[in-house]
Amino acid sequence: MDQNAQKQAAAEAALSFIEPDAIVGVGTGSTANYFIDALATRKHQIRGAVASSEATAERLRSHGIEVFDLNQVDRLPVYVDGADEVNKHREMIKGGGGALTREKIVAAVADQFICIVDESKCVDVLGAFPLPVEVIPMARSLVARKLAGLGGQPRYRDGFVTDNGNLILDVHHIDLGRPLKMETDINQLVGVVTNGLFALRPADVVLVGGRDGVRRY
Ligand code: A5P
Repeated sequence: MDQNAQKQAAAEAALSFIEPDAIVGVGTGSTANYFIDALATRKHQIRGAVASSEATAERLRSHGIEVFDLNQVDRLPVYVDGADEVNKHREMIKGGGGALTREKIVAAVADQFICIVDESKCVDVLGAFPLPVEVIPMARSLVARKLAGLGGQPRYRDGFVTDNGNLILDVHHIDLGRPLKMETDINQLVGVVTNGLFALRPADVVLVGGRDGVRRY
């Protein structure tokens, strides 16, 4: 299986976690898009979805799946999303597509977070992928200096604006040997909305599409 087929296989495997009549939390990115397309084949068995980005909401609606505001939803049994990196503890870096804040919010509400990835996303130590940090625009330089103080090399994602009207700093070469501590430390910087480390709320299940099929851990 090539990489896209691996993403699709992992996405389709996530369907087995979807309860009848549920509202489903849906992530953002190319792997999540495969999940949306698979979910569309079950659209008459679910109530609808909560989207982690405008792009995901649009794709869901294009399939005729109703999109709910998260505030209207009292229970979200499952959130399904991709990742840029995932380790054996099911901690992740997310936000390559810039949707990290809404992804983190939806994940926080969900009973179960199902992470769907191809084999290339599995790492021993997080951090080869630059860590995205969503920042309030006027705090960009302040936060960049603070991130440098934490040992990272922040780069402004030029021309990109998040769905929340904010900016992204991609932090290279930051030591993520202690992901829980770094997630907390970065979130405490004034001007940071959130960062793309998912260690405080790791995935509950990781489905990895590989050359020989899908494995689960
Ligand atoms: C979106 O902001 C991200 O968190 C994505 O979930 C992540 O970048 C994975 O995307 P792909 O499935 O496209 O690799």
